Amino acid sequence: MRELVKIFDTTLRDGEQSPGATMNVAEKVRIAEQLEKLNVDIIEAGFPISSEGDFEAVKAISRTIRRSEIAGLARANPKDIDRAWEAVKGAKFPRLHTFISTSDIHLKHQLKKSKAEVIGIAARSVARAKRYTPNVEFSAMDATRSDVEFLCAVFEAAIREGATTINIPDTVGYAIPSEFGELIRTIRQRVKGIEKVTLSVHCHNDLGLAVANSLAAIQNGARQVECTINGIGERAGNTSLEEVVMAIRTRKDLLQFHTHILPKHIFTTSRLVSKITGMVVQPNKAVVGGNAFAHQSGIHQDGILKEKLTYEIMTPESVGIPKSSLVLGKLSGRHAFKDRVRELGYRLSESDLELAFTRFKQLADKKRDIYDEDIESIVVEQILRMPRRFKLIYLNVVAGNVTVPTATVQMEVDGKLVQEAGFGDGPVDATFKTIKKITRTKSKLLQFAINAITSGTEAQGEVTVRLEEKGNTVIGQGADTDVIVASAKAYINALNKMEFKKQKLVGM
Ligand code: KIV
Ligand code: ZN
Repeated sequence: MRELVKIFDTTLRDGEQSPGATMNVAEKVRIAEQLEKLNVDIIEAGFPISSEGDFEAVKAISRTIRRSEIAGLARANPKDIDRAWEAVKGAKFPRLHTFISTSDIHLKHQLKKSKAEVIGIAARSVARAKRYTPNVEFSAMDATRSDVEFLCAVFEAAIREGATTINIPDTVGYAIPSEFGELIRTIRQRVKGIEKVTLSVHCHNDLGLAVANSLAAIQNGARQVECTINGIGERAGNTSLEEVVMAIRTRKDLLQFHTHILPKHIFTTSRLVSKITGMVVQPNKAVVGGNAFAHQSGIHQDGILKEKLTYEIMTPESVGIPKSSLVLGKLSGRHAFKDRVRELGYRLSESDLELAFTRFKQLADKKRDIYDEDIESIVVEQILRMPRRFKLIYLNVVAGNVTVPTATVQMEVDGKLVQEAGFGDGPVDATFKTIKKITRTKSKLLQFAINAITSGTEAQGEVTVRLEEKGNTVIGQGADTDVIVASAKAYINALNKMEFKKQKLVGM
């Protein structure tokens, strides 16, 4: 019998800690719905005390999701725990997740607490969380750089107070697989009561070892893996959900485990998270990257044509990559469009579908063939991206090699129409400077990139911008057949995210 490994997805919490990856409430709810469809066991919906926005998102997700457990993160103190409970208490299956650091480095430089104090805080925090729910997870931050004796003592205290999941984070991505596997084994041998709880791991990818470490942990007794879609997360990210799940499935011969994940939804989930966060998936990313199933060399292509097994260890269809992405055109009707939206995994209300269909028709007037990627960008831009403080109404740009590039922009700012004109070194520069004037914002542009969503000169351009203001970074994305319009959309999307980010009160 294969044992179950629970998948705890933290895309909406640790994933959102990726530099730039800010999401609003509606976007988070949409991702949570997709994660439920993917069949993850636990969704960590956020860190409720960190901001009003996070609190509201966790609350909304708790009301919406009915199958997966919903976890809210809390530092080990009463205020955090009470706030997290307020946010998750409406969930069908709520979980409180509390944590405190255990390494000497963190105790000395950050917490400024003794080991005895930390044990007391951990115990009291679990006990407080238990007053609200039987489902309590305790994490020892920086566990892999902690003294093992002390780590075991902290875990024993947490279990004594009723923790039901014990999580071992490799917070700084420092461990290597053999060592991490050994740590899990040691904890299982030494901690009293460990057999009563689920052992979990949470690995960061600073040395590119998060997935390998998670697999080593499973082989040594871990039965919950914390991970994110596309491996996004703090710094170099977290264990990638799709990689760990597909490793377990593909190497059934060595790994006697299973997960509840439905892999056919992996690709749509990956695209959705990338679209909403603005975090582009690198082409060579395992399982979901654009090149993950592309065979370039003649020898490989020859082998694949003769027998797929020669160079393919899993099929693109198994993770939901569509066979052909050319779908619709100018003559396609409402019915075909709506069907395709649903096939791509988006569940929209009738009025949102209508709105998306109108945008599709406008696009089809400019562009002969509409691909899945075009449909996704319509859905994400028109529907999921709620208008916030700033909205583009009108843009006219004059540019060329004998004129000073000039932009005239009309925007809605807090519901009021504002118009300005300005010039710059090029059409994009003129547009950005004018938008900056209208919005009176001070962000610095760190990065600007244009990508064609599909092939051909009529393809939509997808622009990604990265902005920085007072140490906060955000990523914005916009798509359009006109790259200057796409640039304006991306810039405004980033400015809206920056506004949202400024409301964050507590960082980790
Ligand atoms: O990396 C980490 O230690 C964390 C904890 C809060 C689980 O994200
Ligand atoms: Zn983490």
